[in-house]
Amino acid sequence: MKEVKIVLVGYMGSGKTTVGRIVANHLNVKFLDLDAFIEEGEKMSIASIFKEKGEVYFRKKEIEYLNKVFLKDESFVLSLGGGTPCFGNNMEFINSKTLNSFYLNVGINELEERLVKEKEHRPMISHLEDDKLTEFIGMHLFERSFFYNKAHHKIKSNRNTPTEIAEMIVNKLV
Ligand code: S3P
Repeated sequence: MKEVKIVLVGYMGSGKTTVGRIVANHLNVKFLDLDAFIEEGEKMSIASIFKEKGEVYFRKKEIEYLNKVFLKDESFVLSLGGGTPCFGNNMEFINSKTLNSFYLNVGINELEERLVKEKEHRPMISHLEDDKLTEFIGMHLFERSFFYNKAHHKIKSNRNTPTEIAEMIVNKLV
């Protein structure tokens, strides 16, 4: 197989990591998670980076580690953080490196159902009351969709399973 670099973008809770692992397994290539790569490099959790150094610092590191990932001369599936596409020239950079960027487009209700259960670990939403979550996601997703839609392929989830989404991705690979 020729070298393939697959990048998954989408909102928090859209399944980037779960789906990414399945795709990587299926293709027998490495799976990389940008958040995990940053945590490993900085020896700090994402939540601690936000808390101790602030979001601006995190966004700088995000750009730096994204660039580092693409220095790798190998095939991989890379899951980004929900905000990565929306800062700097990250989407332009990604699309200059691969033709296989995918937006996992998941509806607001589905996202809310997933995020309400795990918002504590997510610095962007951990401060919100449960009843404010849907409104926040709606607005935030609206702002971010502009960037997500720059991905080459859009995969719309209608309550599909991660395996089904992974299959849709594999079928669209170029
Ligand atoms: C963020 C999403 C997180 C993580 C950080 C910021 C965001 O990644 O990068 O907490 O701005 O949406 P996930 O999308 O994997 O939760």
